[in-house]
Amino acid sequence: MKTLKLRRFDDLHVHFRGLKSKTPAYYEDNLMEQVAPFTMNYCGRATIMPNPKPRHILCVKDVKRYKSHIEMVRNSVSPQPSFDPIMTIEISDSTTLKIIEEAHSFGVIAGKIYPTGIYGKGLSDFFSYKSWQKFGKMNDLGMIVLIHGELDLPGVLVTNREKIFLENVFIPFLSRYSRSFPNLRIVLEHVSSVSGVETVKCFGKNVAATITAHHLCTTLNNVVGKGTQPHNMCNPIPKDYHDMYCLQETAMSGNPKFFLGSDSAPHIRKNKECAHGACGAFTAPILPQLLAEIFENAGKLDKLEDFTSRFGAEFYGLPLNEGKIKLVKKDWIIPEQYGDVVPFMAGQKLQWQLLLE
Ligand code: DOR
Ligand code: ZN
Ligand code: ZN
Repeated sequence: MKTLKLRRFDDLHVHFRGLKSKTPAYYEDNLMEQVAPFTMNYCGRATIMPNPKPRHILCVKDVKRYKSHIEMVRNSVSPQPSFDPIMTIEISDSTTLKIIEEAHSFGVIAGKIYPTGIYGKGLSDFFSYKSWQKFGKMNDLGMIVLIHGELDLPGVLVTNREKIFLENVFIPFLSRYSRSFPNLRIVLEHVSSVSGVETVKCFGKNVAATITAHHLCTTLNNVVGKGTQPHNMCNPIPKDYHDMYCLQETAMSGNPKFFLGSDSAPHIRKNKECAHGACGAFTAPILPQLLAEIFENAGKLDKLEDFTSRFGAEFYGLPLNEGKIKLVKKDWIIPEQYGDVVPFMAGQKLQWQLLLE
């Protein structure tokens, strides 16, 4: 039987949500015990997004609590996986320089920015003096800025949000700021378009992008082409065929500026299959298997490990993971549901299976 051994992954963008809590209003976010073990089984590290409910991760106190929850879940997995969370805080209008310093002292190496209008308050102006001070502080501390690269403006189609962000914020920001902040590393998260890829290529080695597995294999047709497919609905919305092929080519090109960030984003079934459904593709249970299939179909299996386990670590300045994972080539059908959550590609066939030692 054909097997594939790969260095343990770094998933440099994942949503773990919250623990079971006693607050019934937020039961829908209580998914960590259900979802995090999937990632922990094949990743040595993962960058944990700071947007659990009811409260985002906004200060060092939040980080400490969230990290210990994650470690508690990890310690309950048997056998205990070799996994460390890379903690983040959200950088928003209300973030102070002191918050950034305290978080960094605790070991937070990355700050996540949601432009205002995308998820909650976020950061309203990248170019204000206050924001400039925050970027300066992160530059001085050697931190990484992770950016959800979309702008939600009146009159802008959802398919153009990334492009509008690039034109109005990202490109002017990088053009003006790269001299002031030479150490600042910036990641355009879940890049989803040709424009995004081309923009990241244009700037220096401090500018990189994460690519998800679902953007490598979906277009807008998979979201609204045959009825609505709420489990494929995510932000940024999957785009045209040339965007998808460009992302494939880029992920498989061996360019170290592009690495894995799955953006696995679970939501309970009832919140996906409804009016105003939540956005997010839950890929964590199938990530190595799906990526192996996509890379193999393109004849680029030899490029997979750099994408999943090297380029991201190098950009973050971290040593490569020690352990390995093993996949075997054997068809299986993805379950219709894991707990309360419907996985990406539920009920469909994949060719590779993950062997848990
Ligand atoms: O589809 C998405 N879901 N994209 C994001 O950027 C956030 C995520 C979530 O938190 O559900
Ligand atoms: Zn995002
Ligand atoms: Zn995300």
